[in-house]
Amino acid sequence: MIKISPSILSADFANIKQEIQKLEKAGADYIHLDVMDGNFVPNITFGPKFIKDIRPYTKLPFDTHLMIENPEKYVEQFSEAGSDIINFHYEATSDHLSLIKKIKSLGKKAGITLSPPTTEFSLEKLIDHLDLILVMTVNPGFSGQTFLDSQLPKIEKIRKLIDKTGRKIDLEADGGINNQNIQLIKNVGANVIVSASYIFKQNNYKTAIDSLR
Ligand code: DX5
Ligand code: ZN
Repeated sequence: MIKISPSILSADFANIKQEIQKLEKAGADYIHLDVMDGNFVPNITFGPKFIKDIRPYTKLPFDTHLMIENPEKYVEQFSEAGSDIINFHYEATSDHLSLIKKIKSLGKKAGITLSPPTTEFSLEKLIDHLDLILVMTVNPGFSGQTFLDSQLPKIEKIRKLIDKTGRKIDLEADGGINNQNIQLIKNVGANVIVSASYIFKQNNYKTAIDSLR
């Protein structure tokens, strides 16, 4: 079963309560929160205060995608704000295993994200500790970019690595995904799909989410 994790990056922030409640009613499985610091990526979004403020609006798990430098400095704040999955970039820090352990010690699910140039070899010593692996199918920073099909072989290799562990690890794909290309991503074994612009440009979020499933 595919899970859909709509990214609120394309939502109307002035009406964020309604937007989130519409996504929940439309059948979203997670809410994907794109945190950007203007440093790791050339865009700035929101931080823990915003996440804390929207936490009461839904019971859906918060899938928090940290596109920030030094994520180890901030994970406690995101945990306290109500993030359920805390997902940091492989490229943003050096002691990955300690950070994964720290996230888990906070009682949260730990995820790692690979930007397009980062290969599956980076996961070798980490995979047994992870709850989620996110493969970026665009360069991180903005919604509305074109899907990079160059990432499909990497997703397929990671699916095999996951299956070898015998553990349940979510394999998430993020960036440029729509009803035209989603089958390619399902075929290589991703089970969580992020989508921002494809969902939000439609009036009916349920139709949009159903068309991805
Ligand atoms: C990009 C973000 C994505 C983005 C996806 O850096 O991580 O989650 O919001 O947007 P679309 O689906 O429009 O590519
Ligand atoms: Zn994202």
